[in-house]
Amino acid sequence: MGIYVWGTGCGASELLEQGFDLERVEAFVDSFPMGDTFLEKPVILPQQLDISDGDLLIITARHADAIADRCCQLGIPAERCLFLKNNTILLDRNEACSAAKEILGEDLLKKLIPKQRMVPTPAQLNPHSLPEKDLSNDYVRLATLELLCRRLAEVPGAAAELGVYRGFFARCINQLMPNRKLYLFDSFEGFAENTCAADSFQAAHRNTAIDKVLAIMPYPASITVKPGFFPESLEGLEERFCLVSLDVDFYQTTLDGLRYFWPRLEEGGYLMLHDWGSPKLPGVAEALVAYEVELGCKIPAMPLCDVGGTLVLCK
Ligand SMILES: C[S@@+](CC[C@H](N)C(=O)[O-])C[C@H]1O[C@@H](n2cnc3c(N)ncnc32)[C@H](O)[C@@H]1O
Repeated sequence: MGIYVWGTGCGASELLEQGFDLERVEAFVDSFPMGDTFLEKPVILPQQLDISDGDLLIITARHADAIADRCCQLGIPAERCLFLKNNTILLDRNEACSAAKEILGEDLLKKLIPKQRMVPTPAQLNPHSLPEKDLSNDYVRLATLELLCRRLAEVPGAAAELGVYRGFFARCINQLMPNRKLYLFDSFEGFAENTCAADSFQAAHRNTAIDKVLAIMPYPASITVKPGFFPESLEGLEERFCLVSLDVDFYQTTLDGLRYFWPRLEEGGYLMLHDWGSPKLPGVAEALVAYEVELGCKIPAMPLCDVGGTLVLCK
């Protein structure tokens, strides 16, 4: 009996934090592995999986739909797959309706079938909308980003993300605002020493690399990478911003990020404070409280019901 874990990121770390014994893992599975091992276990490609009776595949990555399709292609039976992150799937009740294609024809059916997207597709207005597969990662967070970027068309300034990890969210910003300068701040080696991150959480966040992040950016010419620990990594950078994604999980760096970015945000700009509503990462909301005390006022903001409970601060 073998247990395989699909994903070498935060989901895998959460699984171990819940008390799952790392020794039971045969191998980790990743379509885009950052290295040959993770937590001293081998990392294999999906096509190397050989799941037989008695084995279990635990899927900790968030792209549940795409991974389910891949498992199907690889002949991995659904009864061997446990999806830990399928909370963002919107059910299409028509999947089993094979008669519709025959009766209506494929072209008309494609136009009629419900899409995951609940806000209008901005394709006519902006050719740089996000593909459906990105939206399925965290619909509310990404559809909101898309709408915010539309609002930012007239606002000057660069975009930035503090806390990039493997570049998933940064890629979406870059896709939606191809001509904006986009600063990417990350240590690319996890959290600072004095942060009380659990070992597996730290290991998951070390599992990235600048070249791999740059390789997935659709418009790499707009990117400026600022590697190293923040705020030292700023190295005196003076810039104005229209959009900032602040996603560093813990108190001190969140506070440092607010202190730097909020005064430099243009009027009409947005700062997306990820995990503000997360019960697992209380330091994020605490940092905002501390910063508002320093400022002497409350910042106008709108919370989102996305996976991390993002708070959108509005200038
Ligand atoms: C949750 S991940 C970011 C995920 C990413 N925003 C996304 O949505 O795909 C947090 C990142 O913050 C980075 N980080 C945390 N503290 C930092 C610091 N003081 N300086 C630089 N990077 C830091 C970690 O290295 C990690 O990659």
